[in-house]
Amino acid sequence: MGYVKLYSTWVEIDLESIKENVRQVVENTKVTVMAIVKANAYGHGALPVAKAALSGGASWFGVARVEEALELRQAGINRPILILGYTPPKRYDEMIENDISLTVWESEQIDAIAASANKIGKQARLHLKVDTGMSRLGVQPENASNLANLISSSSSLIFEGLFTHFARADEPDLPTTQQQTELLMIILEEFNNAGFQPKYIHAANSAAALTHPSTWFKLLRLGIAMYGLHPSPKVQLSEAFRPALSWKTVLTQITTVEFSRGVSYGHEFIAQPGNRIGTIPLGYADGFRRIAGNQVLIRGLKVPVIGRVCMDQSMVLLDSVPEAKVGDEVIVIGKQGENHILAEDVAKRWGTINYEVASGIGQRVPRIFI
Ligand SMILES: Cc1ncc(COP(=O)(O)O)c(C=O)c1O
Repeated sequence: MGYVKLYSTWVEIDLESIKENVRQVVENTKVTVMAIVKANAYGHGALPVAKAALSGGASWFGVARVEEALELRQAGINRPILILGYTPPKRYDEMIENDISLTVWESEQIDAIAASANKIGKQARLHLKVDTGMSRLGVQPENASNLANLISSSSSLIFEGLFTHFARADEPDLPTTQQQTELLMIILEEFNNAGFQPKYIHAANSAAALTHPSTWFKLLRLGIAMYGLHPSPKVQLSEAFRPALSWKTVLTQITTVEFSRGVSYGHEFIAQPGNRIGTIPLGYADGFRRIAGNQVLIRGLKVPVIGRVCMDQSMVLLDSVPEAKVGDEVIVIGKQGENHILAEDVAKRWGTINYEVASGIGQRVPRIFI
């Protein structure tokens, strides 16, 4: 409530929800959890979320980029951090020095990382990624043993993990996840026979962590569920999970229309005499999409956004909330009175997924941690 006089638009993150969501998964699965905090923790704020996840029982962190790994390490997070994807070769030394675990899928990477490790006199931690069916990143299964051999035979390298990523775990009725898991098991058996021993095997994202115990292995890579967001329409969180993020703004001006007039660029909406138009400091540069059909909550009621969304501002039609006043808090995502707008509702409106909605909230929008 107090932020309405401090910010134009802001996000509130309930860290207790993050902690509690992680705790649920740790308790239900009894498997070690890697908190996926890439993309500024899906827009929630990487460092505070990482600390909350730790207090909920997470032991590992997963990120996408070198910069994300360093942000955590330099802030004093001393747990294992894995870069899940590409690491630019010129950053290998820095990653090894900072004890960041790296994902590899080609022999050239393994050779270059071993050379870096040798040079600086410190072992590098590697996770071999196998492409079992996502066709995004990973060695093809038939070549996995060659790379495992390369890692295992270098004294500069620690074979810390073997992993894969599911393409359709959020559609639990399909056989794809089971098929990918079986492929991973075949590779594991080959590794066992050859004496390659990656310490951690991991495959499950949130959807698989919720629906597919056979995919859990020794580590879960928990993203969307930690934020209290549903993995998909077919994999819904139980009531015990709570969304951590609310997105808010404030009514800055109210105009009562005296004669028919166009609203915003292009005059796509024509206001009629008697209409009350409200202005909110929220625009596409904040990550609020420039499409028709947006809604926000004011005084607990859903009101339509009218006219084109501008870079920093938008207009709303206030006819259904005559008591609305300048200074009122406006909800983009979250609860107000008896009503709520979920990230999933916004995703539906925008023709996308909750992941994109949360991670797309603009960098300039302050994150307030409560
Ligand atoms: C490799 C990898 N593992 C785990 C995750 C976490 O997935 P989710 O947010 O569905 O739990 C992601 C997210 O995209 C990912 O790319």
